[in-house]
Amino acid sequence: MTLTPEQAEKRILQLTEEINHHNFLYYTQTQPVISDYEFDKLLEELIHIEKEFPQFAQPDSPTQRVGGQITKEFETVEHTYPMMSLSNTYSEPELREFDERIKKAIGENYEYVCELKFDGVAIGLTYKDGILNRAVTRGDGVRGDNVTANVKTIRTIPLKLKGKNYPQEFEIRGEIILDKKSFERINAERIDIGETPFANPRNSAAGTLKLQDSSIVSRRKLDCYLYALYGNFEFSSHQEALQHAASWGFKISSHYRVCKNMNEVLKFIHEWDDKREELEFAIDGIVIKINDFNQQRELGFTAKSPRWAIAYKYKAQSAATLLNSVVYQVGRTGAITPVANLEPVLLAGTVVKRASLHNADQIEKLDLRVGDTVFVEKGGEIIPKITAVDLDKRPENSHKLKYITHCPECGTSLIRKEGEALHYCPNEEGCPPQIKGRIVHFTSRKAMNIEGLGSETIDLLVNEGLLHDVAGIYHLQKEKLLQLERMGEKSVNNLLEAIELSKAVPFERVLFAIGIRFVGDTVAKKIARYFGSYQKLEIAEMEELQQAPEVGEVIAQSVFNFVRDTKNKKMMTQLAEAGLKLEIDAKKYSGVNKLAGLSFVITGVFEKHSRDELKDMIEVNGGKNVSGVSAKTSYLLAGNDGGTSKLEKAEKLKIKIISEEEFLKMIE
Ligand code: IVH
Repeated sequence: MTLTPEQAEKRILQLTEEINHHNFLYYTQTQPVISDYEFDKLLEELIHIEKEFPQFAQPDSPTQRVGGQITKEFETVEHTYPMMSLSNTYSEPELREFDERIKKAIGENYEYVCELKFDGVAIGLTYKDGILNRAVTRGDGVRGDNVTANVKTIRTIPLKLKGKNYPQEFEIRGEIILDKKSFERINAERIDIGETPFANPRNSAAGTLKLQDSSIVSRRKLDCYLYALYGNFEFSSHQEALQHAASWGFKISSHYRVCKNMNEVLKFIHEWDDKREELEFAIDGIVIKINDFNQQRELGFTAKSPRWAIAYKYKAQSAATLLNSVVYQVGRTGAITPVANLEPVLLAGTVVKRASLHNADQIEKLDLRVGDTVFVEKGGEIIPKITAVDLDKRPENSHKLKYITHCPECGTSLIRKEGEALHYCPNEEGCPPQIKGRIVHFTSRKAMNIEGLGSETIDLLVNEGLLHDVAGIYHLQKEKLLQLERMGEKSVNNLLEAIELSKAVPFERVLFAIGIRFVGDTVAKKIARYFGSYQKLEIAEMEELQQAPEVGEVIAQSVFNFVRDTKNKKMMTQLAEAGLKLEIDAKKYSGVNKLAGLSFVITGVFEKHSRDELKDMIEVNGGKNVSGVSAKTSYLLAGNDGGTSKLEKAEKLKIKIISEEEFLKMIE
């Protein structure tokens, strides 16, 4: 059914309001009233109508939550109010001293608000007329990065405020966090593609916030708790401010408490020290603030932090135990990870048996010896780590641990590249865990999704000599498979059918499956769509590779080396012969290559789309964005108020100048 513009505008308004309301119920209140399916249907409808009538899209449109905007470099902007930090302490006597200072300055009549100290990334959100206008990271406290497009994908941050009694313009600050589960998922993915895992959820939230592609941010499930308002408010206390902020739709943690004195504060601190393990996200302490705003003003600030607040930080939980042995694991990329086997010990509610030792330097630094009594910590860092050795308890006959020089699996001499922390086994083709690891990755769900070819079956096939590499999957023979133990006629047929089906897997996933270091499933998608085919990728120069979204120097170099490697060339030829898809499905992305071979310079402001959106459209359609006009430029896409220099240069070089309207026609 086609809508008239009037109908479209009305429906867009309706859907925007309805979806935002459901978003709030689902994410902030965690009490959804409709099913995910119904929700998706509403969102789909809105996306559809907005596409046809972009002029009616609302500034708080929930379609922004799915992201899509690409930011190659974040703009640095000045904070309206400097972003200070808090003085902090690990000691209770110091908290008492803080309390004494408060008493001295403002007398006996005061109360504190105790809040969780969220272990995330500080963010300042500016709202104008109730609409989210800007989101800026702390940076150096004076200037930070403008990460608005990414922050708009965080479902618990309102794009438009509820109610009416908020100032025309104000800022609210809080912490962007990533829950423990998502953190572990992201790390598993990073390890899989050969990237170093994030040390803690905070780093992982920070890394996510700086991604160039907001649609990836949208899928990472960041969350945000708010805890401070800046602007002209008439509230008399922090608690009152928090309550109002909650009524405007912000996520305010319910775990705060007003305390009358330091004893009550300490009680709160102790309670949470025990309970913090149960939280879905990491906290690293408790923040203690004077509740009354007049008293806050009276106390004022030092050069760095407010005098009316302090952060109490929890010491990382630690336990002593014996180091029984060190073993070395070999990953699919050949990376060696040393792991400590410990005498099981209870730490923060879980039994710890193993700890990561990261690399050789770490072992050297700790001067670790088998038989040592070691301290294990589990701070915000989830994965336990060894922090120190109890030298008093060192057995007399102990000797220094020697890092292995040869692969524990295949005996090959290990290498360590200049500047890299890890040792690698270079025997890619003959080292069993590397061979198996590559095949396991290839057949995994997000890659070729070959059911029936999980790690156990792969172990069996490799051990029996039926499988040596991923291409071999497509040459497995029924008779040989039937001879294997545990493989009946039915399971063999199913397996062969699943292998056959995998030939239809789109190029994006094939590119992920072949296991290029640092190329995860989302980056593979970007690269596949940008280049269109493996053939084009094979001849791309470093510069071209870096033009693709999410591709920086490290990934570009990794792809560059991979496609030029002789072994990989052979593998790709075999996969092509087996009938795998090595180019984008042209039908699915009709228009993908409409702008192939064309380069665009964008200048000025546009009516229907932002510059970033236009850039994205150019890329999706196979064109190239360049920053300066040169004789090679195909088009100058010019909006209003652009600088005259680009226009003049384009005219001089006889480069075609087109409007937004004309551009949109090109990709229609
Ligand atoms: S209030 C003037 N409240 O911890 C500073 N900060 O180490 C006002 N943080 O800079 C900050 N949870 O990034 C405040 N409930 C909370 C917090 C919190 C985490 C962060 C924040 C701050 C840092 C200080």
